[in-house]
Amino acid sequence: MKAAIYDQPGSPEVFRYADVPDPVCPPDGVVIRVRAIAIEGGDLINRASSVPPSPSFVVGYAAAGEVVAVGRQVLDRRVGQKVTSFDAAGSHAELRAVVASRTWPVPKGLNMSAASALPIAFGTAYHCLFARGGLKRGETVLIQAGAGGVGVAAIQLAHRAGAIVLATVTGAERVSRLLPLGLDYAIDHRSVDIVEEIDQITRGRGVDLVIDPVGATLQASLAVLRPEGRLVFVGNAGGSTLDIDLWPALQANQSLFGVFMGTQFEKPEVYGTISRLLDQAALGDLDVIVDRIFPLADVAKAHAYAEGHSRLGRVVLIP
Ligand SMILES: NC(=O)c1ccc[n+]([C@@H]2O[C@H](COP(=O)([O-])OP(=O)(O)OC[C@H]3O[C@@H](n4cnc5c(N)ncnc54)[C@H](OP(=O)(O)O)[C@@H]3O)[C@@H](O)[C@H]2O)c1
Repeated sequence: MKAAIYDQPGSPEVFRYADVPDPVCPPDGVVIRVRAIAIEGGDLINRASSVPPSPSFVVGYAAAGEVVAVGRQVLDRRVGQKVTSFDAAGSHAELRAVVASRTWPVPKGLNMSAASALPIAFGTAYHCLFARGGLKRGETVLIQAGAGGVGVAAIQLAHRAGAIVLATVTGAERVSRLLPLGLDYAIDHRSVDIVEEIDQITRGRGVDLVIDPVGATLQASLAVLRPEGRLVFVGNAGGSTLDIDLWPALQANQSLFGVFMGTQFEKPEVYGTISRLLDQAALGDLDVIVDRIFPLADVAKAHAYAEGHSRLGRVVLIP
């Protein structure tokens, strides 16, 4: 099969589009003929900075496609079925072998690009907002990185739950796409002081909850949180080492939650939530924004585009 592979981390040019052996179907898994690959924020970080565990490594968390082989222990998947999947690696390829419990049937009406992009972004956003963040109707939430995959999902889910939604996002065009999805206040973090801006918006009260997938913004996230508020830390899209003073959080009785979805997706409640979110997207109730689609052969261009500062939601690869 063809795959996007690399031997050393680095800029998108480390990719080679090359022939590699087809994956073998595990007894508890399936092989998928991949039709769409969502480039996740974590894929960009892994390719840029994680030394691959083996040469000719196939990066990638999220891919959707048709089942072409079923392991002997798997009773609830069949050849020809459309599924979407997550795993720690292996999405950037024509074929993917994956444990069956990390796949979801794609409901009728949902296209494969959206299906590939939904589980991680929306599943993570839901978990951060509700399972960890405990968001309630009428509360105010700040979503850091509102234009990213997790951010776009979190804005919609928080709005639908009756929250007042603030998000950091740059660019008038991106803001105009997010307002109809439920964004109440856009904060341009490149041109304003977000602590002052949120102080004004909330009339000095602070927000009840912050979802922070950026990391470099954690100190500001704590500073805009009300006393006894909650901060959910879920990623490091900002790319710097974390340097944070937690004394103010102690003095304000604030709570800090960490989220790592790698160990959560297969838990029945999380798996079931993602199935429901897939159904809602198929009905058109959620908007899985796909910014641009590239052929897998153009993987370096696609990663470079995804790393730029104007993309909204997901970039997708098609083998
Ligand atoms: N813990 C977990 O289980 C889990 C699950 C999913 C994702 N994540 C992590 O969460 C992060 C976001 O994921 P994603 O898929 O949403 O990534 P993404 O689609 O690549 O989006 C990243 C976003 O971060 C924004 N950003 C970067 N620096 C910023 C800053 N200083 N202030 C505000 N925004 C900033 C970017 O804005 P611009 O476009 O303006 O540059 C971009 O919109 C990644 O680090 C990912 O690894 C973790």
